[in-house]
Amino acid sequence: MEQWKTIIEPFRIKSVEPIRMTSVAEREGHLREAGYNLFNLHAADVIIDLLTDSGTGAMSAEQWAGIQRGDESYAGSPSWFRFLESVQNLFPFKHVIPTHQGRAAEKILFSVVGGSGKAIPSNTHFDTTRANVEFTGAEAVDLVIEEGRHASVIHPFKGNMDLEALDAFIRDRGADAVPVVMVTVTNNSGGGQPVSLENLRGVREICDRYQLPLFLDACRFAENAWFIKQREAGYADRSIPDIVREMAALADGMTMSAKKDAIANIGGWLALNDDGWADAARNLLILTEGFPTYGGLAGRDLEAIAQGLREVVDEDYLRYRIRSTAYLGEALVESGIPCVQPIGGHAVYLDAAALLPHIPPLQYPGQALAIALYREGGIRGCEIGTVMFGIRPDGTESPGPMELVRLAIPRRVYTQSHIDYVIEVVRSVAVDAAALRGYRIVEQPAQLRHFTARFEPLS
Ligand code: F0G
Repeated sequence: MEQWKTIIEPFRIKSVEPIRMTSVAEREGHLREAGYNLFNLHAADVIIDLLTDSGTGAMSAEQWAGIQRGDESYAGSPSWFRFLESVQNLFPFKHVIPTHQGRAAEKILFSVVGGSGKAIPSNTHFDTTRANVEFTGAEAVDLVIEEGRHASVIHPFKGNMDLEALDAFIRDRGADAVPVVMVTVTNNSGGGQPVSLENLRGVREICDRYQLPLFLDACRFAENAWFIKQREAGYADRSIPDIVREMAALADGMTMSAKKDAIANIGGWLALNDDGWADAARNLLILTEGFPTYGGLAGRDLEAIAQGLREVVDEDYLRYRIRSTAYLGEALVESGIPCVQPIGGHAVYLDAAALLPHIPPLQYPGQALAIALYREGGIRGCEIGTVMFGIRPDGTESPGPMELVRLAIPRRVYTQSHIDYVIEVVRSVAVDAAALRGYRIVEQPAQLRHFTARFEPLS
């Protein structure tokens, strides 16, 4: 295959879903009804849905076959053992605790280890992770390297932890206040940027120095491993499963959303080595998720995950996956549209602060851009800026670290012509960017406001 320039989708399509075309006027009506929050839209009114890569992937024929095979025994189902084997093949942690999605694993982990007075550092906590940490009264602290905080700065591993800052933070707070150190691979909130194995080893050394456990938020572990293979010296000839196991070997546990790099529509797990924490976690699991051999999942979901984990580490898949995200990003960058660079694994992040400098952060430039993309072309992206990260637990508001609009690419769902359409729409919105106006929030909940807040355009 290497001699050809075109990297094709390494699959054929045998089942399709229609996309309904809509007009700008129709979409304006939908926006008003939705309170200008794209989470409130009917998905059927979206043409290209880039809201998330979570749970939106297309399952393979083998995964659907697994759905048929799913055994729904309450305890000790064969589907559970197939799931367990598939997880431990990549992540050989002693205990694997299945949950209905990633945040359930987070909720359980932080219920066990969090609490007021505690602080949990990460390169960057994702929104649900931060919210689950803060819900226990603990503090969620982001310590990504300086390069990771600037949209246009190029760095091969922009998701890396700032090791000096981590060490200083633990020294300053005292190791007793830090129950666990987290590393998110890839760093979703920072642009889908990878973390190097060298950096993970550095985090491990610091954790060893203070005798702290290290947990991975491993949602996009395969994409991270692909970047390591491509970019980190010494890994070009290593297999992806090998690289994943090397990442896992540096950690004491992980939280996982199977809706990302297990290419399943639902699912997740918490895995860890510590017996005491695992006992406490299983007790909480039984309270809210289910018996420890199915957690929050049906047997059929366990099968889909087990098979998805085999497919996601396939190099033809990963080459196509990472290339197709870069294809979108590079086309936009060539048109002068500011994006987080280099282009990340699962999404292209438009830099709304740079594209809409006339809209101040507290008038939500990312939201304004996301709304414009839907209005113009029926494309649904997701604001990752002040709407998502601008509100503190005490209710005060300040600008988020960046003003981004994420165009997340569902796995194996859209073809190159869908993406060409996206490129055309984004270019057209960018040409008229100066005409876009900001928004104000008219209604919002105390936590995770981006999901349900309602907005009004500023005149
Ligand atoms: N950690 C990261 C890095 C994530 O990206 C997500 C979800 C979670 C944890 C929580 O997993 O959704 O299964 O409960 N991210 C989705 C997204 C929602 O759109 O990026 P979950």
